[in-house]
Amino acid sequence: MTSFRAPIPLTVRPGPPLRGRFSPPGDKSITHRAYLMGLLADGESTVEGPNPGADCEATLSCCARVGARVARTPEAVRIGGSVPRITEPESVLECGNSGTTLRLMSGILAAQPWLAVLSGDASLNRRPVARVIEPLRRMGARLHARGGDRFPPLVVQGGALTPITYALPVASAQVASCVLLAGLHAAGRTAVELPGQARDHTERMLGAFGVEVVIAPRPGLGPRLEVQGPARLRAARLRVPGDFSAAAFFLAAAAATPGAEVTATSVGLNPTRTGLLDVLEAMGAGVSRTPRGEQAGEPVGEVTVTGPDHLDAFAVPPEWLPRLVDEVPAWTIAALAARGTSLLSGAAELRVKESDRLAVLARQLGALGGTVREHADGLEIEGGRRLRGGTVSAANDHRIAMALVLLGLRARAPVTVDDAASIATSYPGFRDALAALGGEVVDPRAGGGA
Ligand code: S3P
Repeated sequence: MTSFRAPIPLTVRPGPPLRGRFSPPGDKSITHRAYLMGLLADGESTVEGPNPGADCEATLSCCARVGARVARTPEAVRIGGSVPRITEPESVLECGNSGTTLRLMSGILAAQPWLAVLSGDASLNRRPVARVIEPLRRMGARLHARGGDRFPPLVVQGGALTPITYALPVASAQVASCVLLAGLHAAGRTAVELPGQARDHTERMLGAFGVEVVIAPRPGLGPRLEVQGPARLRAARLRVPGDFSAAAFFLAAAAATPGAEVTATSVGLNPTRTGLLDVLEAMGAGVSRTPRGEQAGEPVGEVTVTGPDHLDAFAVPPEWLPRLVDEVPAWTIAALAARGTSLLSGAAELRVKESDRLAVLARQLGALGGTVREHADGLEIEGGRRLRGGTVSAANDHRIAMALVLLGLRARAPVTVDDAASIATSYPGFRDALAALGGEVVDPRAGGGA
């Protein structure tokens, strides 16, 4: 896989409030985990409704390259584990734009007696890997990375691992998952201690694959998670819930527009992911959640957001950040519409996502006419005025591209995002969903309104 993406522009015109129902694609974080556990499990697993974006395809292709058997139907991916043993990859494992692929895969590879090299596109190869190197080395694997062990490509020489107890410096689900996946192969108890609650999909899904994770809550901190190795995973059949992080863009756009009403159906409602709903509610939006049972051990349901006459600015408490870590681009849509100064802090992690999201958001929202101040660990947004619109770039970051596009709905002139191809990383159907909800998407082929 190369890092080149054609610079496909996407333009949205100011138009009527979004209204209607939509089903977001399968959850990206959960799909990654389903494929990786399918790789490790005895027998054939079935993953229904997986996320179709490029990130999860990268994980699936890495699984195939180390020995998993993969078959597809229109609705599902079947993955046969590489039991008893993962095979040594013959060339570099390409992770594309996906940090989750690289970091979780490194935990699995650390336990295999092979050499593997994990690499990504230009963005991923600038993202930190010391955070996984450090615990995996302590378990006995040998790892090396570019720039003094800071950035991919990441070389993993795996082998027999010893269990550790690891206190994570940041509340990162990727790092916690990496260590737990390595711990499945280490004889004894491997534990991770999180400084705050992060998304808990790995813990939930290991249960679906027959492995118990002991979860000890720690008041005021994140939990301590423990697995007992060596563990055998049993193949599973599961349906992936809709991706709250994909739905978030339309929900935030609805909150920002008086008269809008948007319902996301079959969407994951895991509370470790839905912090944005609490923020929108605190700003005055109408938010209703209707639980509809469980899928893949995760709560799912419907969420409806309605846009009030106006939103009020709100300072997001820093301890909420892990529950909306991927929703900050969507949050800016609401913050720009709200009366007063909205504040985000405790968000320095956003500087090492698919782009430096604090810097890129501040720059591009400013270019559209927003008043946005960048802080070392957050953003300050003065809202309540319509943006002027214009052409901006999203630094090839899928979540920033989707947020910028939606700002065109209530700007004074259209917004064009000139590098919108990145949206296919997580939400290939975004454009169609937007048009179905009433968004006026300009079709570049027709040169007019779609
Ligand atoms: C993810 C965890 C988060 C998130 C990322 C997906 C996961 O990263 O930002 O998009 O699937 O585990 P961190 O764990 O580094 O916070």
